[in-house]
Amino acid sequence: MRDLLSELPGVRASEPIGDGAVVLRGYASARAGELLRAVDRIREVAPFRHLTTPGGHVMSVAMTNCGSLGWVSDRRGYRYQRTDPLTGESWPSMPAVLRSTATEAAEAAGYAGFVSDACLINHYEPGARLSLHQDRNERDMSAPIVSVSLGLPAVFLFGGLRRNDRPKRIRLDHGDIVVWGGATRLAFHGVEPLDEGDHPLTGRCRINLTFRKAG
Ligand code: SIN
Ligand code: FE2
Repeated sequence: MRDLLSELPGVRASEPIGDGAVVLRGYASARAGELLRAVDRIREVAPFRHLTTPGGHVMSVAMTNCGSLGWVSDRRGYRYQRTDPLTGESWPSMPAVLRSTATEAAEAAGYAGFVSDACLINHYEPGARLSLHQDRNERDMSAPIVSVSLGLPAVFLFGGLRRNDRPKRIRLDHGDIVVWGGATRLAFHGVEPLDEGDHPLTGRCRINLTFRKAG
């Protein structure tokens, strides 16, 4: 069968990593600059900050959000909320280029009609990591997760439905998008400590956009 994905500019291959889960190599490369400029505008209004987990740990990854709902964590727990706890204002609205990237990537991965209402933006400096977790604060588990990697490369850990399942180690480069849903919607996943580096577009950091249907 003809591989339609590889005919799009910048898109190299679609790589299955589990049941309902795929890495779309280079899918966001052509619009990476535009995505990063949108992130720069968002962070002016809703700055990156290091959240505290319910257990009292300060996360090494700095986070912000755009869209009608934003994911937050503090001593009271993990949740989505309409306002930024830092400013009391609504989260910045989701720029069209982010929204359409998420919808198109989901469709390319087999999830037509994905409309994201929440985009978590993660900022990793060298050494920052995200321990294995499930994304389970969303109401509708039939919608997939779309995760866009920009800047420095990272090793993504993609495990099973049990915390102890040994995760696959998957290198994610600038422009790669991971989509997971269906049977792997609740897969444990995380990111290994980021290596030192300097990326032409982001400098000494990795930016990750995680799109979800939260409400
Ligand atoms: C996440 O699980 O929220 C982020 C994953 C990533 O940074 O690739
Ligand atoms: Fe996650």
